[in-house]
Amino acid sequence: MRNGKVYAFDEDHAPWTLDPVTLESIATDNIGVSDPELKAHFRMDAQTGERVLFDTLFGPDSPSHSAHIVSADGRTTTRRTIALGADVPLTYIHDFFVTASSVMFHLQPAFPDFAKLSQGVAFARSLDWKSEQGTKLAILSRAGDVDPFIVETDSRWMWHSVNA
Ligand SMILES: [Fe+2]
Repeated sequence: MRNGKVYAFDEDHAPWTLDPVTLESIATDNIGVSDPELKAHFRMDAQTGERVLFDTLFGPDSPSHSAHIVSADGRTTTRRTIALGADVPLTYIHDFFVTASSVMFHLQPAFPDFAKLSQGVAFARSLDWKSEQGTKLAILSRAGDVDPFIVETDSRWMWHSVNA
């Protein structure tokens, strides 16, 4: 619940607002993010009141991962993006880390197999784990005062995050 609204998030849409009593769907709400294809998880910054959301997009420099930092009053949104390049395969991520200064995306070597998906295989079962490729940690400055960068590390699976 935020600003009197109950939200339901999915993996690549604007969230829906729900009736707080019946939970009936009311309408989509972009929460101040233009063209939202937001992931299900977000973080609240208890110090600033900001809400931090994220998405993964495709495009000429795709895939790219963005953090959307919505001010406490909901009036401004700052976007921080790391574009990984067209030759980088899509990594499945479901959650992320937020600290006072940074946002980190844990780019695990789990790759959706679109051929399997087209055959009706469930999404989780379509993931192709390539441990030899390692995990990449994409780190973005919330203030934008440091260019996004990647740290490579051993392969690890991450579903959810806590305590960044
Ligand atoms: Fe989740």
